[in-house]
Amino acid sequence: MGMDTIQIIQLKKGQENSYKMNIPKIINLPKILDSRGNLSFFEHPNQLPFEIARTYWIYDVPGGESRGSHAFKHQQEFIIALSGSFDIVLNDGENEIRFSLNRSYYGLFIPKMYWRKMENFSTNSLALIVSDKPYEETDYLRDFNEFKNLKNG
Ligand code: TYD
Repeated sequence: MGMDTIQIIQLKKGQENSYKMNIPKIINLPKILDSRGNLSFFEHPNQLPFEIARTYWIYDVPGGESRGSHAFKHQQEFIIALSGSFDIVLNDGENEIRFSLNRSYYGLFIPKMYWRKMENFSTNSLALIVSDKPYEETDYLRDFNEFKNLKNG
């Protein structure tokens, strides 16, 4: 599926269907530069390819910890480093790719059925995650082999 051809895109009004949203992508967000302080945002459908059903954030991560070794059967996510930095390691069942998120004006779109791990959190980092589904434990795949079998089967 070409994990080596990660696209960096900027979604625009009316073009949300012209990108293959079944592969991970970095989505660049608008940056309103201002001497009073900068501002970025995302909204559906202009920047975000799905409607938000849930928002959560991860913070106060102790050094060396990793989070989120799992995949989702159905839900899609968009992850931004609002503050600090961390890595997201994605695995499609065959290939692995690492993204370093360290700016608040872009984020990583993760379609369903990608194994994802978050690690290398910097001190005081803040990860913002939006999802198109409410929290549902049965949507989690927490066993990598089960994920791999489902993905490749
Ligand atoms: P989990 O998704 O396993 O965390 P991570 O992927 O970062 O390792 O969630 C940890 C706990 O928090 C788990 O018991 C479920 C709960 N939780 C909710 O209740 N609602 C949510 O939206 C999320 C993301 C987690």
